[in-house]
Amino acid sequence: MGIQRKVICALDTSSVADAVDAIRRLSPYVGGFKVGHALTLPHGLGVIETLREAGAQRIFLDLKFHDIPNSVALAVREATRHGVWMMTLHASGGPAMMTAAVEEARTHSEELQPILLAVSVLTSLNQHILTDHLGTNRSVPEHMAYLSKLAVDCGMDGVVSSPEEVKDIRKAIGHGVVVTPGIRRPDQSTHDHSRTGTGQQAIADGADYLVIGRGLMASDDPARTLADYELYDVAGSH
Ligand code: C5P
Repeated sequence: MGIQRKVICALDTSSVADAVDAIRRLSPYVGGFKVGHALTLPHGLGVIETLREAGAQRIFLDLKFHDIPNSVALAVREATRHGVWMMTLHASGGPAMMTAAVEEARTHSEELQPILLAVSVLTSLNQHILTDHLGTNRSVPEHMAYLSKLAVDCGMDGVVSSPEEVKDIRKAIGHGVVVTPGIRRPDQSTHDHSRTGTGQQAIADGADYLVIGRGLMASDDPARTLADYELYDVAGSH
């Protein structure tokens, strides 16, 4: 499998036409497509069937559920009925919520069960917010590792991690799927502090999949764009 199949393109648009257009251009190259509130709120979960017909075989539903266990289990049921490949829940919803999600997923046949991913600490949060507003005593990396381990202990299949924390998260959870957004090209500045990194480094640190949005959505030459990210393997392109 070419390294590019580890890339998931984030369809960060509210336009079904733009999403379909991106899928037609990108599905020969990437391994899946991420769908969030921008597409599902205006168009409903039925948009997943439209995207699949356009060529998106693997859909990652990124709605980051966080509610009482019964409500989250119902959400997992609906997502599973639409055949999603992966989906996200907030680990901070707690063990009972995650266990209810896992139990619901396991009521479906194995090939239908979505990969349940836990979100630990959003990249938009920082130490000041975590400590002074959310009352957590742990550092950001410690809290991420703690919540990620809690998630896999509850039976979740994996976690989302920014590039900076992949190594620690991989160590904390052992086996399990790690999905990493915040990917930049090797030639992009390394002087920012927004927890970004290159795809090659994230994979070397233990990531299984990489999420790239704007960089791919805007591309009319996906092979070239993926090569710019050093994520294109010609030999494994088919
Ligand atoms: O930045 P880019 O357009 O590649 O982002 C793609 C996806 O990754 C977005 O859908 C966003 O939800 C997610 N992301 C993230 N954390 C970041 C940057 C992006 O979760 N620091």
